[in-house]
Order: sequence, then structure tokens, then C-alpha cells
Amino acid sequence: MTRIAVFISGRGSNLQALIDARNRGDLAGDIGVVVSSRTGAPGLERARRAGLDHCVVDAADYASREAFDAELDRVVNQAGCSLICLAGFMRILTPGFVEAWRDRILNIHPALLPAFPGTACHRRVLEGGVKITGCTVHFVRPQVDAGPIIAQAAVPVLPGDDEKSLADRVLVAEHRIYPLALNLVLQGRVRVIEERVVVDAPVRADDMLANPVP
Ligand code: GAR
Repeated sequence: MTRIAVFISGRGSNLQALIDARNRGDLAGDIGVVVSSRTGAPGLERARRAGLDHCVVDAADYASREAFDAELDRVVNQAGCSLICLAGFMRILTPGFVEAWRDRILNIHPALLPAFPGTACHRRVLEGGVKITGCTVHFVRPQVDAGPIIAQAAVPVLPGDDEKSLADRVLVAEHRIYPLALNLVLQGRVRVIEERVVVDAPVRADDMLANPVP
């Protein structure tokens, strides 16, 4: 069974979604280790409660980004993991690390990439008057928030939304698509062809999300 390393920096609600899927028997792999880039990240407590191996690798303890990533690599390998899920991991990995783990690092981003990469995307969605946003699970490439897209979910922006209400609505979708996308990868149903993902999974062509509703 494939072992997965989950990298976090904070709250860890996406980690929790993966833990919940695992505990329901709905994950086609197992979580081998949870690594936090911050001491005291609330997500570490989630890992502890789930009985998962967990540790902190704090960038401040390393002389360079390369040294930090070398430690991440060591921890992941020691835990016998062959796949990495970034779940609110707020460090940028070096190109060397990303290439060494090519097509074996997944990330979740709270917008419909390639629109709104980077931080504060909900604020920029609201400023732009966007009516539909969402979230994206993708393979990681050296460029931030870029890489072949595995799965996306669309979420309406509602009148009166602020950053918090919008982030909360998108987060519900994140928690659904991260386990889904991870399972497709674990089941070998995801192929990267010319930097695009081809997924062997049902799609629906007969529906749309419109906002406002027609
Ligand atoms: C999530 O919304 C995730 O998509 C986002 O940080 C949050 C982490 O929440 N990630 C990024 O913005 C990465 N570019 P969590 O710690 O509760 O999973």
C-alpha cells in the first residue's frame, strides 16, 4: 500500500479530510508521516489524535532552502513514503526537490487555477467581482501554484461574501476533492501527458454551475 507524507504549516483541515477518508477505509493508501514546517501547528494535534507519525521540520533550523528540503526528503524516505501531499504547506520547495519528486507531489489551492495563484486569492476573487471560484488539486512544479491539474471544484461567490465566508465555502469543496484526487492518483487512474492530466474517471457534460442561476 502506498504511503503518503502530508506536509502542513497550520490548521490542517485538509489533513483532517485525508485522515477521515483513511479512517473510513476510503483511502487507497496510508498516511506514513505528517510533517509540519511550524512548531505548534494545530494540524500536528490532528496527526497525534489519529495516531500518525508526525514531526516538525522548521526552515529556521536550516542554513539554506536546499538543506531544509534535504531534511524533508530524508524524513519522507525514512517513513517509507512515495507520495507527498501539500495541505496548507506555506513553504516553496526548491526546484531540485520538486524535480526529484516529479508527479509525486500534490497540492491543493483555494482557487480555480491557473486563475488566482498565490496568496490572498479570496480577496482578489472578491475584488475582481468573480461569480464562480473554487479549488484545484494539481501536481507540483517549481513555479508556484502551477502544474498539471488533477481535479477542480467550482463554488459560487454569493452576494455579501467576505473573505472568511468565501474561504469557508471553498474549504468545504477542498475537503471533498482532495481525497478524491489523491485516490485517483493512488489507483493509477491519473496520467500526465504533455503536462496535462488525463483522468480515468467519470465526468459530467450535462450540467453547469451558473451564478446567478438562470
Ligand atoms: C487551504 O485553504 C489550502 O487550500 C490553502 O491553505 C489552506 C490551508 O488550510 N493553501 C494554499 O493557499 C496554498 N497555496 P488547512 O491547513 O486547514 O488545510
